[in-house]
Amino acid sequence: TVGKSTNILWHKCSVEKIDRQELLQQKGCVIWITGLSGSGKSTLACALARALHSRGKLTYILDGDNVRHGLNRDLSFKAEDRAENIRRIGEVAKLFADAGVICIASVISPYRKDRDACRALLSEGDFVEVFMDVPLQVCEARDPKGLYKLARAGKIKGFTGVDDPYEAPMNAEIVLHQEGVVCDSPSELAEKVISYLEEKGYLE
Ligand code: PPS
Repeated sequence: TVGKSTNILWHKCSVEKIDRQELLQQKGCVIWITGLSGSGKSTLACALARALHSRGKLTYILDGDNVRHGLNRDLSFKAEDRAENIRRIGEVAKLFADAGVICIASVISPYRKDRDACRALLSEGDFVEVFMDVPLQVCEARDPKGLYKLARAGKIKGFTGVDDPYEAPMNAEIVLHQEGVVCDSPSELAEKVISYLEEKGYLE
């Protein structure tokens, strides 16, 4: 175990999650938004943060693209680095939830086992997986950053959905299917998530 932490003990404090939640009048949890590039993860994260904020709820967004500018700037897009990206984001999200914050993670998180490992870090019910169920053709037609075009031209290798896998969730708490002309607006999608949180008592 050279290089690993050893001889470490958990230090407990009398101010706990329950106390912070009481102060904030909300329950800390993680809303984990997964889906292909261009499926609307960041847009939903932002609409959700805006809607919760206007209800007086404290949120924080961990967006894949943004976290890769700092904490995860050392990671590439190969499978083991994506796994480490998700592991770190999961651990940070857990800290936010413990702080009493509604933490919104918007990351492709293409591998089921990596997402499930994040779920396992949290108490039952505190991890809400939201699947942006948008077909590849729709994401590719949107191509907001022009990355699909580059991937098809072979200028980006290992692009999710093109030449890298995306494993869709099988038991997501919320599935948001978006296709064709019947797309909901970001705030309508956010309301769906908020209704779920209300039903589960996370906004009391
Ligand atoms: S992952 O798979 O969860 O580690 O990805 P994530 O941290 O969410 O970062 C995804 C954003 O990185 C850009 N990008 C790529 N995505 C997928 N595959 C490859 N090879 C790649 N290279 C760069 C892309 O802009 C993603 O942003 P979103 O918001 O998902 O479109």
